[in-house]
Amino acid sequence: RSGTRVERLPLSRFTTLGVGGEAEVWFVTSHDALAEAMERPYRILGGGSNLVIADAGVPERVLRLSGPLAERDLTPDPLLSTPARVVTGWVGGGVPLPGLVRQLQKLGLSGLEGTVGIPAQVGGAVWMNAGTRYGEMFDGLHTIELVTPEGTRQVTPDDLPWGYRQSGIPRNHVVSRVRLALTVSTPDAVLAKMDFADQARRGQPKMKTPGCAFKNPGGVSAGQLIDEAGLKGTRIGNALIAPEHANFIVNLGGATAADVHALLDTVRARVKVPLELEYELWP
Ligand code: FAD
Ligand code: EPU
Repeated sequence: RSGTRVERLPLSRFTTLGVGGEAEVWFVTSHDALAEAMERPYRILGGGSNLVIADAGVPERVLRLSGPLAERDLTPDPLLSTPARVVTGWVGGGVPLPGLVRQLQKLGLSGLEGTVGIPAQVGGAVWMNAGTRYGEMFDGLHTIELVTPEGTRQVTPDDLPWGYRQSGIPRNHVVSRVRLALTVSTPDAVLAKMDFADQARRGQPKMKTPGCAFKNPGGVSAGQLIDEAGLKGTRIGNALIAPEHANFIVNLGGATAADVHALLDTVRARVKVPLELEYELWP
């Protein structure tokens, strides 16, 4: 096969929650390899930072962008850049977001610093428009390349109905790489904004977790609603509603997907406002 490594592996290794059974993981390193891997049912794994994967694993191929699809070229494109704005070369969907954000800060390029602290890959963060109150992925995008079962195409943010924690990109369209559009600033100014955004994360738990469980309904903090329902510290098996922030479920060690599902059900039963899940459950 065109440079693709295929291995049966426990997905718990790839998730920030540390939960998930085995699947066939396809490490794809080129567009051709990606197209080939997409000929049978598949799922795309990014940084695994928003996933609760079943203890039995998943039957589909699990695609992971590697090699050149996890490399970046931040060189300004001379045709598209101006003294005030840089449009970069291609950044692979498999590039870890935290390192990219740090690198942009050192270059004094502003646009993505609001996403500081989000442990995603670029592709996953674009796919769900990850963000915080201080900025989101779509603040810094110029072009998004999508590999779909019908072929490869390039879109701009204007082509998509993106919003809070959603890009409008259909499921199983792979964000293979993007070009960033950033404002020229200084390393110190970008660092100051990053530090400010990072302050908001100080109350978040440091344990194994897939981030916030539920989206904020209409601007209200889901965490506050779960807290007010008295659910902080609720434990099922080895999963716990974090005492630090009630919208985080943490793995105390050896938690199962079933433990997490049971906690999600408990929250839905006790919080009167309907909450929309932010996590993705596999399968
Ligand atoms: P995964 O979890 O691997 O996958 C999530 C979804 O994206 C899946 O549907 C997957 O198929 C899809 N996907 C992954 N890669 C691609 C790709 N290349 N192309 C197409 N689809 C793809 N989120 C926020 O928005 N704001 C926060 O402040 C935040 N804080 C967090 C803090 C912690 C400690 C943790 C653990 C998580 C936090 N999250 C936050 C949640 C998570 O980081 C985001 O949801 C992130 O966008 C998930 O990206 P990922 O690459 O890890 O995707
Ligand atoms: N609050 C409580 N109890 C709690 C949690 C929060 O009373 O258990 C209160 C806080 O005191 C504060 C308010 O709720 O007054 C807001 O809390 P916080 O600042 O923690 O923000 P949030 O709305 O709960 C959102 C995002 C986070 C993001 C932070 C910081 C969502 C679902 N959550 O949390 O994103 O990191 O803001 O910008 O939008 C994620 O999406 O996975 C995520 C972690």
